[in-house]
Amino acid sequence: MKAAAKNILKVRRAPRIETELIVPGDKSISHRAVLLSAISNGRCTITNFLEGEDCRSTARAMRQLGVEIETPEPGTVIVEGNRGIFRAPEGDIDCGNSGTTMRLMAGLLSPQKFRSKMTGDPSLSNRPMRRVIEPLQEMGARLQAEGEKQCPPLTIVGGPLEGITYRLPVASAQVKSAVLLAGLFAKGTTTVIESVRSRDHTERMFEYFLIKFRREEIWEGTCPVGRKLKEIRISLDGGQIPESRDFRVPGDISSAAFWLVAAAAQPGSRLLVKDVGLNPTRTGIIDVLIRMGARIREVVETSAHGEPAGTVDIKGIQLHATEVRGAEIPNVIDEIPAIAVAAALAEGTTVIRDAKELRVKETDRIAAVATNLRAMGVEVEEFPDGMAITGGKPLKGARMQSFGDHRIAMAFAVAGLFASGETVIEDTDCVLTSYPTFFETLKKIQKGTGIGRRTPVISSLGGGKTRRRKKA
Ligand code: S3P
Repeated sequence: MKAAAKNILKVRRAPRIETELIVPGDKSISHRAVLLSAISNGRCTITNFLEGEDCRSTARAMRQLGVEIETPEPGTVIVEGNRGIFRAPEGDIDCGNSGTTMRLMAGLLSPQKFRSKMTGDPSLSNRPMRRVIEPLQEMGARLQAEGEKQCPPLTIVGGPLEGITYRLPVASAQVKSAVLLAGLFAKGTTTVIESVRSRDHTERMFEYFLIKFRREEIWEGTCPVGRKLKEIRISLDGGQIPESRDFRVPGDISSAAFWLVAAAAQPGSRLLVKDVGLNPTRTGIIDVLIRMGARIREVVETSAHGEPAGTVDIKGIQLHATEVRGAEIPNVIDEIPAIAVAAALAEGTTVIRDAKELRVKETDRIAAVATNLRAMGVEVEEFPDGMAITGGKPLKGARMQSFGDHRIAMAFAVAGLFASGETVIEDTDCVLTSYPTFFETLKKIQKGTGIGRRTPVISSLGGGKTRRRKKA
């Protein structure tokens, strides 16, 4: 049988960017908004919900468990919370490409009174599940991964759970969230300890949905300047039901990252991204680009529903190399393909370390980035936990794979905007998992449709709290 034709994307060099844009709703927050609404005590309307395939997988899974969800218009979902009392699903729960769906759902399915099985596409079927299996088993759940090396499918025989104290062995917001969600249904207190700060959307949403929890930061050293974060402890008592509330999802900074890199690396470019999430556990991309020389102004305009959001104003320049490692990694983990493209366009050698998690994302992102950058003529040294990228030479257009990974496809579409000739990326349907309107925005960027010199860009940034970041 002939394999089905997969979409390809062709990209050519673009003029400098002078535009403003918005990006779709945040993926991590959209998942959590549906899950928290579904276990709440009533009706919740979620707006600016990301209509990407991953978040649809979460909504579909909830429907399969008996939660009523309506979508009256694109981007709006109305969820009838059922206090976490789910119905046994008919058939397997297909999580598609979404690791977040499977891992967070594992936390919600573990305390149920029925057996369930979660499956995924070939990429998800290769992603490690031991990281959620171990803590949930410790809480009393019976989970089993049927794939090799504890990979999906994941079968869960639900039952009563006990609270535990769990120190995260990997900095993972998905694992933290799975344990905390299970903790809501467990007897006693559940505590999760993280020694590296990971994205905190679950905690912020708990606060917004009026779940009581304690969060404590423990620091090493007494001097406020030199002190180092030792750990963060989050504890909650079981038996709590979220209070139903409406929720608006801000734009996804991880989607904005592609355009931030495209603008930052082009001297003379100017880009405004509006209504984008500016949660400090996610804005590491801005710090990295500032260290590389980009001029960026970030204005937090609202903190409605617990998540800061606002505008990022960025001016392009010849970038220079930087280092990305250590505690910064979880904050930029999804942006590393885009950062690698920035590195290829920057003068000098950029080093990325402590990022071995990239090996177990939608694809092995270290190998994928290295392969594609080399195809474009860039010198890349691969390490088990990262890479060194020597940039500054002109990029050559090339034909390359997305490896079925949305962020690889989008990062190399951006690289194509800077390359000579044509860049062809194969198998780009995966982009729909997180950024359904990416291709439209790419067209706009390629056409160079702009805000024009007369647009009062700066005055449009009034009213919020401005944080100018300095070069490190
Ligand atoms: C996510 C957490 C991160 C991130 C993923 C989304 C989340 O994964 O890479 O895209 O929504 O919690 P890990 O928790 O595995 O680091």
